[in-house]
Amino acid sequence: MTDTNTTAHGKWSSRFAYILAATGSAVGLGNIWKFPYITGENGGGAFVLVYLGCVLLIGIPIMIAETMLGRRSQRNPVETMELLTKEANADSNWHYLGWMGVIAGLLILSYYSVIAGWASAYILKAFTGSFIDADASAIKTIFDQFIASPIQLIFWHTLFMMATMLIVVRGVNNGLEKAVQYLMPALFVLMFLLVAYAMTTGSYFQGLHFLFTPDWSKLTSNAVLTAMGHAFFTLSLGMGSIMVYGSYLSKDISISKTVFIIAGADTIVALLAGIAIFPIVFANNLHPNSGPGLIFETLPIAFGAMTGGWLMGILFFILLAVAALTSSISLIEPTVAWLVENRRFTREKACLWSGGITWLLGLGTVFSFNIWSDFKLFDRSIFQILDYLTANLMLPIGGFCIAIFAGWIMKTQHSEEELAMPTPAYYQAWKILISYIAPAAVFFVFLHVIGVL
Ligand code: TRP
Repeated sequence: MTDTNTTAHGKWSSRFAYILAATGSAVGLGNIWKFPYITGENGGGAFVLVYLGCVLLIGIPIMIAETMLGRRSQRNPVETMELLTKEANADSNWHYLGWMGVIAGLLILSYYSVIAGWASAYILKAFTGSFIDADASAIKTIFDQFIASPIQLIFWHTLFMMATMLIVVRGVNNGLEKAVQYLMPALFVLMFLLVAYAMTTGSYFQGLHFLFTPDWSKLTSNAVLTAMGHAFFTLSLGMGSIMVYGSYLSKDISISKTVFIIAGADTIVALLAGIAIFPIVFANNLHPNSGPGLIFETLPIAFGAMTGGWLMGILFFILLAVAALTSSISLIEPTVAWLVENRRFTREKACLWSGGITWLLGLGTVFSFNIWSDFKLFDRSIFQILDYLTANLMLPIGGFCIAIFAGWIMKTQHSEEELAMPTPAYYQAWKILISYIAPAAVFFVFLHVIGVL
């Protein structure tokens, strides 16, 4: 591949550093905040099974493909699509895919940062003892009062965006890698402790039953779309995060093996979050479908009631905020890399611009929980529209295009060489999944939602 670019492109210092960073990108609010509440809204078991099926049959093959595209070009997503299109002698319109990713990343980050701000605010609430001995209704009041205040939400959103920018400005090795090394393992430990608490609530099996016993009658076609969209969201697929992380990966590392580790860790964290939260929901007569506030209305009850809960609460929200931080940096990195490498921005200027625009967009989400809460388009608030547009539409469309590109446009010889699977059978299995199964599944879900099927 010819080198058309003189700007240095970063590189992970080791395979382990890459796995941590990519897991850091995948594990975030999607697992701990979003997965439980959308599971609650969509009736539990059947939704969870569809989500798991999507991770396996669509998410993992596309994650392999997206990493592969980035790694092959060693460029930012916009350039990756340009270069690989040339390499395959294909239509130049494919580079719009890189563009869509940049836009989707900023849109997602705009609301992601607001919710991450909630998590950050809850560190302080935990610290000041707000949850101690508080019952479910007191905890709900704390949450309702908090989101009713635009000033508070803006403050925490601003703080979180600034933290994201500070890390991204320092680049791959200094910023991204260092941040995730200790925090990921710590998060795992805390999730297990929460599950242990959930076992003591008396509603543990009711929680498990809700999560894992499918009631197919509750599964609407929109629920299937949400489950599929979430498979993309939780694995950071379809917009270039994983592509840009793959582009910092050296050539001697097996993509497929690392993808299984990352997707596995991501799924485990989500399931642990569900197993911890739903018993608390049922034990306190709360409703599974209480929406984006679910974890903020449930977990503090546990922290308020258990021994050592004060410290656990602080630790939990610190880890949640940090898990969000290691994801948010991957949402903005494609844009920053592109501005630096192609538009000759300094890294500082690139961060300032992309961060500034994202911050501004985030105000729409802030206000949709208070002063603009009555403003609805298609029966949805601004936050809900952004979420639907990105997670349910843009990411699956982006993923679909990545699958088509990797399966049909890129030369077999090239993908085979890049993936270097242990046996030809593995490669064949991936090739079938990426060329037929994954794109067809996305296509059918879309047809189903628009009512054609
Ligand atoms: N996967 C992250 C989470 O679950 C969020 C995220 C990071 C993301 N990068 C992404 C979502 C790219 C979609 C696309 O919290």
